[in-house]
Amino acid sequence: MGEFEPKIIGFLCNWCSYAGADLAGVSRIQYPPNIRVVRVMCSGRLDPIIPLEVFMKGADGILILGCHPGDCHYVEGNLYAERKIKMLKKLVALTGLELDRLKLDWVSASEGQRFAQIVTEFTEQIKKLGPSPLSGKTPDQKILENIQAAKNAASDFRLRVLVGRERELTEKKNVYGEKISQEEFDSLLDEVVTAEFIRHKFCLLTKDKPFSVKELAKVVNMKPGTVLRHIVNMRRKGMIALDRVEGTTPLYKALEIG
Ligand code: FES
Repeated sequence: MGEFEPKIIGFLCNWCSYAGADLAGVSRIQYPPNIRVVRVMCSGRLDPIIPLEVFMKGADGILILGCHPGDCHYVEGNLYAERKIKMLKKLVALTGLELDRLKLDWVSASEGQRFAQIVTEFTEQIKKLGPSPLSGKTPDQKILENIQAAKNAASDFRLRVLVGRERELTEKKNVYGEKISQEEFDSLLDEVVTAEFIRHKFCLLTKDKPFSVKELAKVVNMKPGTVLRHIVNMRRKGMIALDRVEGTTPLYKALEIG
């Protein structure tokens, strides 16, 4: 069997990175042929659910390249990309898929050499990791289900609103003259990302068959008390409902799947 040749999908912004890739091509700078390029108008336009879908289809690595900070054609698109990818990485970390399969970097239109170098290094990194557990004929079902939960969490307006307000919350004072520090925001984001991921995972688990708190706790390896807190919260949000009571055990079923 030959050497593993990873499938890498590159999302390149039209104005800098795509031109940088083009320059690498016309200057005949060598780089591995493993990357398939998708041109986007701006790195900030890439919806975080798209990389998750691409991972579900079995891509071994995803490279997102935008203009250098300060150079975005749409002023701050790449800074939005940075925030979205930060959230996306937190989600991917919960799924069991290796985080090193996802990378965001900057390449300008004049940096053909830099483009080739980033692609070469990333390809090497993915070769070391080996094929994605979601590639091939028997993808890892647990990770696949987790990525689906991550995708549903990423589409949820709660996460979107929080990511969209990072700058406002960390840079501007609120009506009480207070500002959230970057560390405070990051730990809040961690908390919300984890909670949304778990809730969407519960939705997936209970969509066809009702589960008790105890059963859910066993599947996700969490304390029943913590699961119950999520269930209470999910019932309030209309994500899950009481299906029936078996003996003295309430069973819950998902109401809404993102
Ligand atoms: Fe290149 Fe926004 S236009 S990142």
